[in-house]
Amino acid sequence: MADIQNGDSCSSSPLELFERVTAQGEKVRSLKAGKASTEEIDAAVKLLLSLKVTYKTATGQDYKAGSPPVDFSPVSNNGPITTQDEDFVDPWTVQTSNAKGVDYDKLIVRFGSSKIDKELINRIERVTGKTPHHFLRRGIFFSHRDMNQILDAYENKKPFYLYTGRGPSSEAMHVGHLIPFIFTKWLQEIFNVPLVIQLTDDEKYLWKDLTIERAYEYAIENAKDIIACGFDINKTFIFSDLDYLGMSSGYYKNVVKVQKHVTFNQVKGIFGFTDSDCIGKISFPAIQAAPSFSSSFPQIFKDKKDIQCLIPCAIDQDPYFRMTRDVAPRIGYLKPALLHSVFFPALQGAQTKMSASDPNTSIFLTDTPKQIKTKINKHAFSGGKDTIEEHRKYGGNCEVDVSYMYLTFFLEDDDKLEQMKQAYTSGALLTGELKKVLIETLQPLIAAHQQRRKQITDEMVKQFMTPRKLAFDF
Ligand code: TRP
Repeated sequence: MADIQNGDSCSSSPLELFERVTAQGEKVRSLKAGKASTEEIDAAVKLLLSLKVTYKTATGQDYKAGSPPVDFSPVSNNGPITTQDEDFVDPWTVQTSNAKGVDYDKLIVRFGSSKIDKELINRIERVTGKTPHHFLRRGIFFSHRDMNQILDAYENKKPFYLYTGRGPSSEAMHVGHLIPFIFTKWLQEIFNVPLVIQLTDDEKYLWKDLTIERAYEYAIENAKDIIACGFDINKTFIFSDLDYLGMSSGYYKNVVKVQKHVTFNQVKGIFGFTDSDCIGKISFPAIQAAPSFSSSFPQIFKDKKDIQCLIPCAIDQDPYFRMTRDVAPRIGYLKPALLHSVFFPALQGAQTKMSASDPNTSIFLTDTPKQIKTKINKHAFSGGKDTIEEHRKYGGNCEVDVSYMYLTFFLEDDDKLEQMKQAYTSGALLTGELKKVLIETLQPLIAAHQQRRKQITDEMVKQFMTPRKLAFDF
């Protein structure tokens, strides 16, 4: 093995080195998240870079997060996803160097999921008799696993249920956080099925610098924003892990079943955990997996263990459910089906996910009309040209323009959206004018959300979060 030049990393094995780089990477991330001093961050970054050099010297490969050195990889073909052009996607990090954002077609290939194509969208329309949501029509929900099985069940009048969730990492939610919930509400309406919503306060306690009490408070606050999306109280159960795990006669049993059937090596491969991660993190995936099984909710499904589950989520959550689908048949359960969404772009561009800790990277559900206007005008990355003359001559680029991207999420009128696209691309519409359309779309939408949220009482939250039978007989 090559001589290793670097400090105390003498004669480490490639895998140990890999783990050290990973651990150091995580340290840098947590220093940044915890707003450590610049010197501290710089020192940690410097060590990270030198560890990467050491790693490359020892293995002849560049360090890639989540991909252990080739000959030492504990599981092949199942790790976090790095597409050929360096997109990186796992539940904690999304990175791409492309201004258009992550290459989702490549992700589908690497993840082994299926594209939501025209045929599937047509089938949803045929089976439900409803116009497909614009998130489907516009490729915002773009990938799935076994959705046809769900539609078969529905056609055969067999029941299924929806499961989604949120990690309550802060009190403030932004518009991007609403995407899965807006879509889930639509699914609940068109299919008329039970819905369970997991608030992973335990996860955020384990990963962030938060007390248990604070994480739980965030869960309750976030529940209000979720309820404000319009879920039917008779058909929806929202639960905090910290509360419900100790209360349910079914949930913990399923957690333990999953835990028995997944090895440390497997979660290392799937999630990039290292030997220095706390055991809470290592076992957490079982807690996110278990709500995919109906027997985790005996109050809703009685003793039925075979009610099929459909999970709408952002694609970064897929590693949890790949693991879940892998264990399900081994513990006698059905694999959950999935619908995956793209990421909601930060105001600064589609390269990264937004950060709840930087208020200028997104529009928050608490923003005033004036804040919305200022943020969009000041921070929304423009695909327009530098001068009016050039813009008129060459036109703008919708593929990288964040205001246009946001409109695809929130402007429901297909004709108007198409008009904007053509006018912007041709140069007839200027960036300022496009931004104005977005501002005028978002302001009433957020104001209406705030209005609905205000009406939500503690009593209602409590009701949503009480384990109980829903308006379905099983
Ligand atoms: N881990 C997710 C997050 O941090 C929260 C979550 C739990 C979730 N269960 C889920 C998201 C099911 C989608 C579907 O946001």
